[in-house]
Amino acid sequence: MNGQEEWHNSPIGVFDSGVGGLTVAREIMRQLPNERIVYFGDTARVPYGSKSKETVMKYSRQIVNFLMTQQVKAIVVACNTASAYALDELEHEVDIPIIGVVRPGAKAAMEATKNGKIGVIATEATINSGIYNRYIEKNDRSVKIIGKACPLFVPLVEEGLWEDPVTDEIARRYLTELIDSDIDTLILGCTHYPMIRSTVGRIMGKQVTLVNPAYETARELKDMLLEKGLESEHRPGLGTELYRFFVSDAADKFQRFANSILTYGILSAKVINIDEF
Ligand code: DGL
Repeated sequence: MNGQEEWHNSPIGVFDSGVGGLTVAREIMRQLPNERIVYFGDTARVPYGSKSKETVMKYSRQIVNFLMTQQVKAIVVACNTASAYALDELEHEVDIPIIGVVRPGAKAAMEATKNGKIGVIATEATINSGIYNRYIEKNDRSVKIIGKACPLFVPLVEEGLWEDPVTDEIARRYLTELIDSDIDTLILGCTHYPMIRSTVGRIMGKQVTLVNPAYETARELKDMLLEKGLESEHRPGLGTELYRFFVSDAADKFQRFANSILTYGILSAKVINIDEF
């Protein structure tokens, strides 16, 4: 095991069902440039958004077991669906700090709303889990939450149709209900949605504040590392790999997507057999 000194400089484990969590990794890179990251994308088993709680739990547990072998000092569950279904249990199972993307997003939305009406768009699983409602209602029962599953957004983003008439049309259909509900705040409750933020923003109108949980999660991670004295003291020296990427399948496709959204070019993603963990 590393000594206390080196432990501070250990990487952060970040995982998602695939490429989407890179939006969270990107925010961590921006806000915490000294931190090393080990990213795992479960590209063989994506999507999680249409799977059962038991399955998402099993997959998430395997990934956490893998990340622990990488000596990570903290874990970020960068997937909304895994945060919704698995985080509560994982928190009891690991002895390092672990945070998800739901609570930071919900907290920011509660701070942003003025009329007490918050919309959430996410995968079917995240909406069905009722996690955003539970969290927000626990803190303020007067807030009204309107959830809407938008299952076609994930494939549209992965196909690169970020600014496209097809995405526009589908977004209009999904979002009409939310516009009619008079929300003033909308949580982008899925890793992929920040990529179509401008389309969603244009359709919802200027009066609606969009909350990006990826940004809020990186902020919460920063506070948590500071509070626990776990922040990296300096940027790792030359020769140390700052970011490492692992996937369960299709490394080339992952790399292409990663290179389209990260400013830092990723040289390789390693395929591992996640069933072994
Ligand atoms: N990463 C998932 C989420 O944020 C979206 C993709 C999937 O369904 O696995 O909920």
